[in-house]
Amino acid sequence: MGLTKQYLRYAASAVFGVIGSQKANIVYVTLRGGERGRYVAVAACEHVFIWDIRKGEKVLILQGQKHEVSFLCPSPDGVHIAVGYEDGAVRIFSLLNGESNVSFSGHKSGVSVINYDALGAQLVTGSKDTDVIVWDVINECGLYRLKGHKDIITQALFLQDKNLLVTSSKDSFVKWWDLDTQHCFKTMVGHRSEVWGMVLLNQENRLLTGSADSELRAWDISYLEEVRKTEGEPKVKKGKSLLDDDDDDDDKEDHKKGDEDESIEERVLSCKKAGSILREARDRVVSLTSDSKAKVLACHGDDSVLELFTVLSEEEVQRKMNKKLKKAKKKAAKAQDDAGEPVVERALKDEIIRLTNIKASAKIRSVWSGELKVALLLQNNTIETYSLKTLDKTPTANKTARLTLGGHRTDVRTLAFSSDNLAFLSASGDTVKVWNRSTLQVIRTMACDYALCSLFVPGDRQIILGTKSGKLQIFELASGSLLETKEAHDGALWSMCLAPDQRGVITGSADKTVKFWEFELIKDKGTNQKRLTVKHTRTLQLEEDVLCVKFSPDHRLLAVSLLDCTVKIFYTDTLKFFLSLYGHKLPVLCLDISHDSTLIATGSADRNVKLWGLDFGDCHRSLFAHDDSVMFLQFVPKTHLFFTAGKDRKIKQWDADKFEHIQTLEGHHREVWCVAISPNGDHLVSSSHDKSLRLWERTREPIILEEEREMEREAEFEESMAKGDVPVVPGETEGEAAPAGKKTVETVKAAERIMEALELYRDETRKMEEHKYACESAGKELPPPKCNPILVAFGNWACLCLLTTSELEVSLLVLPFPYVPELLKLFNSYIQQGLEVELVCRCLFFLLKIHFGQITSNQMLLSVIDELRTNTLSRVCQIRDVMGFNGAALQFLQREIENKEDVMFFADASGRLEEKKKKRRKRERAVLTIA
Ligand SMILES: *[C@@H]1O[C@H](CO)[C@@H](O)[C@H](O)[C@H]1NC(C)=O
Ligand SMILES: *[C@@H]1O[C@H](CO)[C@@H](O)[C@H](O)[C@H]1NC(C)=O
Ligand SMILES: *[C@@H]1O[C@H](CO)[C@@H](O)[C@H](O)[C@H]1NC(C)=O
Repeated sequence: MGLTKQYLRYAASAVFGVIGSQKANIVYVTLRGGERGRYVAVAACEHVFIWDIRKGEKVLILQGQKHEVSFLCPSPDGVHIAVGYEDGAVRIFSLLNGESNVSFSGHKSGVSVINYDALGAQLVTGSKDTDVIVWDVINECGLYRLKGHKDIITQALFLQDKNLLVTSSKDSFVKWWDLDTQHCFKTMVGHRSEVWGMVLLNQENRLLTGSADSELRAWDISYLEEVRKTEGEPKVKKGKSLLDDDDDDDDKEDHKKGDEDESIEERVLSCKKAGSILREARDRVVSLTSDSKAKVLACHGDDSVLELFTVLSEEEVQRKMNKKLKKAKKKAAKAQDDAGEPVVERALKDEIIRLTNIKASAKIRSVWSGELKVALLLQNNTIETYSLKTLDKTPTANKTARLTLGGHRTDVRTLAFSSDNLAFLSASGDTVKVWNRSTLQVIRTMACDYALCSLFVPGDRQIILGTKSGKLQIFELASGSLLETKEAHDGALWSMCLAPDQRGVITGSADKTVKFWEFELIKDKGTNQKRLTVKHTRTLQLEEDVLCVKFSPDHRLLAVSLLDCTVKIFYTDTLKFFLSLYGHKLPVLCLDISHDSTLIATGSADRNVKLWGLDFGDCHRSLFAHDDSVMFLQFVPKTHLFFTAGKDRKIKQWDADKFEHIQTLEGHHREVWCVAISPNGDHLVSSSHDKSLRLWERTREPIILEEEREMEREAEFEESMAKGDVPVVPGETEGEAAPAGKKTVETVKAAERIMEALELYRDETRKMEEHKYACESAGKELPPPKCNPILVAFGNWACLCLLTTSELEVSLLVLPFPYVPELLKLFNSYIQQGLEVELVCRCLFFLLKIHFGQITSNQMLLSVIDELRTNTLSRVCQIRDVMGFNGAALQFLQREIENKEDVMFFADASGRLEEKKKKRRKRERAVLTIA
């Protein structure tokens, strides 16, 4: 084959223009010990961007691979962040260096929620596939998969000191799980619609849930062990909220249901509805969160208002109730009422108080509240932060920052490169931005009308936009000002093309005309300075809406695409009709003419690209180009290669002479609207409905088409593999708990690697034995045989060191049994040498578990197993002793240091204080009873 024709590869070089993607949430993070509330992390398509709010700068990018980020959760110590993706993967990044070395794959579809436990040692993830998985962060492995919900998991929370988990789902249920037994011991059925969020309040004695209506339901939770302990003490009687009077009947129903389940379910805790708070918004809760101390609640629906509530502490509530009681007594005294002691019922609204509302400047997508700080991710690619004073009489929230500069609020519909390749512009529904190509910094941001087409005026000092309302807008870059708005057409101005002599432009519009314009310098009346304007010279009237116009580079011809699916060619000088190109079944949305004016390529909403000769209008070839409308088509300057982009999210490169597809640029997650190619052909910039702009760069790497196709097939295969042979059935109900991992391409590859390594090892051992035999028979030392370089590099350890530990179990599960006995023998030798004992033990136990029958019934393995038993035991004991010794040493050191410095170290001093107080209280009570 060889290189028939050399094509160069274009490669992704940057993602920008997106401030925060709508798919995921926003969180505050701490960076390099920086102050709290200064940095936020948001998803930006497949990456995570960390923004410095104060400076409005992107300070860190956590690189993703292919799938969009769907959830973010920082670790309690602030050093890591867990990132969930649309394909179900979870990766943990270090916020110190932005690198990820832990990844978990267990979900079949997008991760919808992630939470750490209080220590940061465990992670719970919930997904659209309805499963909940608990992961061990330290051992980097999955612990268990909890099945039971029947729809997307919307929240999953660990309880602090109990080994319990509470999860909520769109299936309207809240489930409590005992993690010791991996069993769901309680299902709360009190919601009649989706549960969209929940928070734990009052030292986890209250659960607040948000669902599809304006009611936030509060549930009192009592943990039964504690209840038993504190039996005998008078229970605080809590009244019901006045607010839920109206749906009392429903409550009774709920309670009745609850009572029925009680006998079976009330083992660990009991849960009673305590009332509800009404939100002002009528729609569903989109997010419901609290700050880290659970003092402030924040909640919003699908609009621009954030509602904030304060949760009062027990003392505060008591004080409030006392005040109320006093008032009531006074009133009673005044009224000379002998009805007896006035009663003040304690209601939920005395405990949770509306604080204030924040009206954001667009619909809110996500909220994260820190202490007195709120960060909002808005639905129009904006981040806003607010600070609030909760202690004020009328608490208000002030906007502290707004991040908008680095992107557009609405989709970018047109892009253009400057003639010197150094800058490009992007224009959306309300602004046009000019970017520095090398730094990707915004040079200018200017307000404009809804732009549909654009270009740099030769000289790169001005830009012209064509708008949806039919106007031409001219901007000057030096001053960043709008020079002129010209009413050009009576309909949308779809297309604009610079004349080859660079003296003017033509515009095509939905008003069925093509207009010719000439650049002109006129004296501005006000400033008496010369400024650029355009003068209308000629008009070409057509029968149909004009979608696209283009000059041939030799200026002889003019191509016009019309709404009736044809492309008509006219002579530029006389405006006489020359040719009509028939063939597309839907309108041509984009077209271009090659640099030598011989070829015209048209891209249509019918998904095809057609190549025509410009001499006779003959169709050379029709190519099925995209899986949806072709939105963009342009030749690479000075070549017969061209690029197309489609609503199928792809950008493709083609050869117009050989009719070959060269390369596909994938990356965008939504339809691609437009692309611009730099005049020297080295760069491409593209924009998409996913709000991202992407820069692509021509590399020096040649593309060999056969290899390219092969790679595409492989990628397709892996994709189908990743989707899994098991179809994703929402609410599969096999059992409640299942292994956490899933079969992926990686695990299959890992199993293959184990097999390869074992075979290698087998060969090598045989070689060594033959060598020994040869030595013995010859009676002298022979030179040893050549060792395989891999074995030299890794020792005979090769087969396991290639595994990632989070995939270990699944990889071993895929490993065929005939390899197991050998692996066991190897394990024995590892254990004897004391190599990676923990890892080997994990593998060993897992293998024993899954192949128990086959291993125990195999006579050959008897001695191996026997040896393994003694060796493992002694090794593990040894390790345990070492750890115990080290632990004791550390404790000793801690005591020494504490004695010397007279400070508490490593321990939470406040916790101890609490304990002491408690003890004192207990003692006091004891004294009292004796007295
Ligand atoms: C979107 O964001 C901008 C922030 O620049 C804001 O001014 C605008 O009102 C927002 N809302 C909508 C609906 O565009
Ligand atoms: C918010 O702004 C008002 C007036 O501008 C000011 O009086 C108030 O102190 C500010 N509040 C906060 C929390 O900064
Ligand atoms: C882009 O930024 C680089 C580096 O700061 C600078 O040298 C260059 O002049 C800038 N280009 C434009 C067009 O502003």
